[in-house]
Order: sequence, then C-alpha cells, then structure tokens
Amino acid sequence: AQIAPFCASDAVLSWYDRHRRDLPWRAKPLEPADPYAVWLSEIMLQQTTVAAVKPYFSAFLARWPSVHDLAASPIEEVMREWAGLGYYSRARNLHACAKMIAGAFEGRFPQSEAELRRLPGIGPYTAAAIAAIAFGRRAVVVDGNVERVVARLFAIEAPLPSVRPLIRAKADVLTPHERPGDFAQGMMDLGATICTPRSPACAICPLSDFCEGRRSGDPARFPVKAPK
Ligand code: ADE
Repeated sequence: AQIAPFCASDAVLSWYDRHRRDLPWRAKPLEPADPYAVWLSEIMLQQTTVAAVKPYFSAFLARWPSVHDLAASPIEEVMREWAGLGYYSRARNLHACAKMIAGAFEGRFPQSEAELRRLPGIGPYTAAAIAAIAFGRRAVVVDGNVERVVARLFAIEAPLPSVRPLIRAKADVLTPHERPGDFAQGMMDLGATICTPRSPACAICPLSDFCEGRRSGDPARFPVKAPK
C-alpha cells in the first residue's frame, strides 16, 4: 500500500522512482552520474527536444567517450557530428569547454554552480542542472517544464515573464537537500508527461493533492502569460 507523501518534493521523488523516463544520459538508479554525459546532454537539450537529442547524444558518446577524446578532436569533426541539431554556437562552446576541462581542469568538471557558469556555453540553467544531476549539489533547476509545474502547483496569477523570479523562489522552497538531481529530473518529467501545456493529467499526477491549480478547477490556465 502507498503511504501518502509527507510533502510535495517527496511525492515528486517517489513518482520519479516509479516512472522515470529511461533516457540515455541518465545514470541507472544507485549508479553514479557521469558528469561528462550530463554536461553533454544538458548542452544538447538547451534548445532541442529530448527526442531529437537522443540519437546525437548516443553518437557523440560513442565517438568521444570522454571529455579528453572530445577535446582532442578537430573542431571540424565536432561541427560535422553536430550538423542537424542547430544553434551551432553550442557546438563551438562545447569544444572550447571540453578543451578547458581536459586542460586546465585536468579532466574534472567543477562541481559548484558558480564555477560551472564560468565555462563556455554554460548559463545559469545549465550550471544548476549539472551541479544537481552530476554532483548532487542542491541547486534550483527551472526550465520551461518546471516553470509550468510550479505555476500550477501554486496557482500563480501574475504573468510571465515578469513572474519568473517568484516562480524561482517557489521552486527554491520545493527543492530538497536530498537527491536534488532526481528531484529536478522528476519535475522535468512531470512537466513533459503529465503536467502538459494543454491538458494536464491531474488524475494521475503525484502532486494533485498539493496542487492549488487543480483546486482552482482550471489548472491549464497557468502559467498566465502577459498579452503581447
Ligand atoms: N531537459 C533538459 N534536461 C533534461 C533532463 N536531464 N532530463 C529530461 N529532460 C531534460
């Protein structure tokens, strides 16, 4: 029998344990994450869907199994392997970052958000995602999917984009100290598979008992968007 979760973050984690998507960059449960794989996947996922990223991620990892292999490759080869993913500055930054990690950092990615943000191609979102997923650091990871889940959970009436700092503050309160990477990916998976933009599947959502948006009767109206 299931015990009702004590709080929203526990509900996300226990749902993630049961329903996590098996994605090629995710470590198996109880196995350590590979920071190189996490970094590579998060760069690819910045402006590209999970479905489009999968084959590219697998091709890169097969061709360049470590950050040293990627750093040693000519940039032209990296650009060719990236062809079709779009936003090509990502590939240039990827290679520049690989060279820094393989060189100055002796093959080890830094673990803190602040240090990660200094690397080419790593902005605030990506730094938080890598810190949490690869290193288990508590970091507040908010992408578009997470934004929607949080806006609904708290029935936030103020519109995007100006409400982003509030959404972030709410996400900060939700983020647990234990398993922040699994929590972040649980929130992403919830947004991608259950708390979808048009017709959220509240009946099977682990957060439904906690959700103000659901209580309001019309969760799909969140997040509210400012008129253009
Ligand atoms: N989008 C960005 N990062 C992701 C991840 N780690 N899992 C699923 N979707 C994502």
